[in-house]
Amino acid sequence: MTRKILVTSALPYANGAIHLGHLVEYIQTDIWVRFQKMRGHECWYVCADDTHGTPIMLRAEKEGITPEALIERVHGEHARDFAGFHVGFDNYYTTHSDETQACANEIYARLLAAGLIETRTIEQYYDPLKEMFLPDRFIKGECPKCGAPDQYGDNCESCGSAYTANELKNPYSAVSGATPVFRRSEHYFFRLSDPRCQTFLRRWTQGEGRLQNEAANKLQEWLGGDGENHLTDWDISRDAPYFGFEIPDAPGKYFYVWLDAPIGYMGAFRNLCSREGLDFDEYWQVGSATELYHFIGKDILYFHALFWPAELEHAGYRTPTKVFAHGFLTVDGAKMSKSRGTFITAESYLAQGLDPEWLRYYYAAKLSSSMEDIDLNLDDFIARVNSDMVGKFVNLASRSAGFIVKHFAGQLCTCDESLSAINAIRDRRPLIADHYEAREFSKAIREIMALIDLANQYVDSVKPWELARQPGREAELQAACTNALNLFRLFAILLKPVLPALGAKVEAFLNVAPFVWEDAGAVLAAGHAIKVYRHMMTRVDKKQVDALVAANRETLAAVPQAAPQAKPEDQVAAVAVTEPAAGAAAGPHISIDDFMRVDLRIARIKEATRVEGADKLVRLVVDIGPLGTRQVFAGIKAAYDPVTLVGRLTVMVANLAPRRMKFGLSEGMVLAASDADGQTPGIFLLSPDAGAEPGMRVK
Ligand code: MSP
Ligand code: ZN
Repeated sequence: MTRKILVTSALPYANGAIHLGHLVEYIQTDIWVRFQKMRGHECWYVCADDTHGTPIMLRAEKEGITPEALIERVHGEHARDFAGFHVGFDNYYTTHSDETQACANEIYARLLAAGLIETRTIEQYYDPLKEMFLPDRFIKGECPKCGAPDQYGDNCESCGSAYTANELKNPYSAVSGATPVFRRSEHYFFRLSDPRCQTFLRRWTQGEGRLQNEAANKLQEWLGGDGENHLTDWDISRDAPYFGFEIPDAPGKYFYVWLDAPIGYMGAFRNLCSREGLDFDEYWQVGSATELYHFIGKDILYFHALFWPAELEHAGYRTPTKVFAHGFLTVDGAKMSKSRGTFITAESYLAQGLDPEWLRYYYAAKLSSSMEDIDLNLDDFIARVNSDMVGKFVNLASRSAGFIVKHFAGQLCTCDESLSAINAIRDRRPLIADHYEAREFSKAIREIMALIDLANQYVDSVKPWELARQPGREAELQAACTNALNLFRLFAILLKPVLPALGAKVEAFLNVAPFVWEDAGAVLAAGHAIKVYRHMMTRVDKKQVDALVAANRETLAAVPQAAPQAKPEDQVAAVAVTEPAAGAAAGPHISIDDFMRVDLRIARIKEATRVEGADKLVRLVVDIGPLGTRQVFAGIKAAYDPVTLVGRLTVMVANLAPRRMKFGLSEGMVLAASDADGQTPGIFLLSPDAGAEPGMRVK
């Protein structure tokens, strides 16, 4: 029976690059989808960029562009990265779309009609300078437990304790540096505490096979025992300024990004429907005979297993068939790290010339249906790809194809179907399919590799390369190579969900139609002619992996920044000391991209004043054209009388994170040259040649 299946992966945020952690999810989903398609099912895979919310709004502002321009650029980058790893979405859309907005409004209207929306006035931190409410992650201050400065509003990186933003001591806005004030505002809530939601979720989350056991247990914990009510209502609105969808009949109120994000699955599918002529309702109506699966990371289980099904149920839509959560990626046993170079972007992996299918194979060999984290061990990655893929799998073809082309005009003879390797494939094929279906990819790979070992034992026993040197044994040579190539073909079919590009190369080389799963039930007919073999996969060179890690190592140390533990006055990142002294090494290379991340601008000094109580500092107010004005504390008092500075042009770093000092907020850094000690012969502020204007980029 042909199944109709709709599959999603979580929507990546539109303000960051795709990295190898994300790819665990997209590759996992893609393998599953490709398997379903090869089986002949009607399977649609949709995804989109998650484009709304405060971080995206602020990021765009920082880049000096509109949020629309930002999300459009990032959409291009994400689509490029996914295509580079052969993630074959049927539609890669955006939540900032008419379709998503229409679905969001519809769901909201139905929840409202069902009496599940309520308004309530709440009190929240507000940035009086920036005139906006602050999400917790944009509030910083001293940790209420250990007193560490500059900690975020939810937990302390120094002592690890968790708290709420209003417990922070001396809070300040990470956006403007201003001290936040409490302000009241009306918010919209989805009434998750309503008995209807409780009853529904208790039943739904314990549904047979709907969630993995670990996930179902987590949900049980969140829901509490019978008769308890652990769920609190969910705040689904945010006040302007906000980049998102305005709530109907609620001017200045916007849907919180997590309200419209999962609805983006629907929006992406609706858009696909109009392109492919599919029936949207057939997939989303209550009682639909189609299947709906969401692949997600374990960090967003709460949204997908509580809020989302509750919304769908009470808005009169079908609920997901299953939610599949996976664990997090670690690299060499640790969290991905920018300083170690293991926070590896998809783009850099491809740019260094690494084969995307190496990673797909490695992930497949590690993935299971559980929520456990998976580790990318770089040495193991090299060893496994080289031994399994190149040494064992591809080698089957490279050892036999040449003889067929050279001695037999590319023609195969009859494949010996009584070979034990061929029989073993026939026996194990249903089990391998079950493993794919159950997302037990590591088990599928283990089975396939065991079969490949059998095939290599066969080739080693018949030794085509020796037969080729013995006149009169041509028939044996052709038979041996025919068998080897048939075995190779069968493995290429079984591995095609994991290695689609290699699969396509094999199809071209063997001169056959695109593989479907059923193809593995038969061998190639005698007389079938193949094409010339071209190399299919190279070995991983450790140097490539080392270069990849080096390319991802955060090299911004090249821009002098004050050490976090320094005293306030020394924290002024005001003077860029031009080290090293003549003759010393200039340090490791940085890429042009690293350099371009530093936003250097021409700045005109509008005000320059002494700072009471600081003997090295001058307070500057600088004009950087379209980017506005900034306050900067510069440690240049020893060399300059403030009054002489007013009006002159200099160069500043415009995208340095603002730093709160004892005297106020420092919003950048002006550039000056000095010797290592910063005293002799003095400090020399940089200035541009005549004609430069405030705000011009320096590069
Ligand atoms: N925008 C939300 C999802 C909305 S879905 C309606 C989001 N975006 S994300 O970019 O942070 O993450 C996208 C997916 O990638 C999530 O499922 C997340 O769990 C997964 N991963 C992000 N980093 C990951 C690792 N380091 N390892 C494995 N998966 C990771 O969450
Ligand atoms: Zn602390």
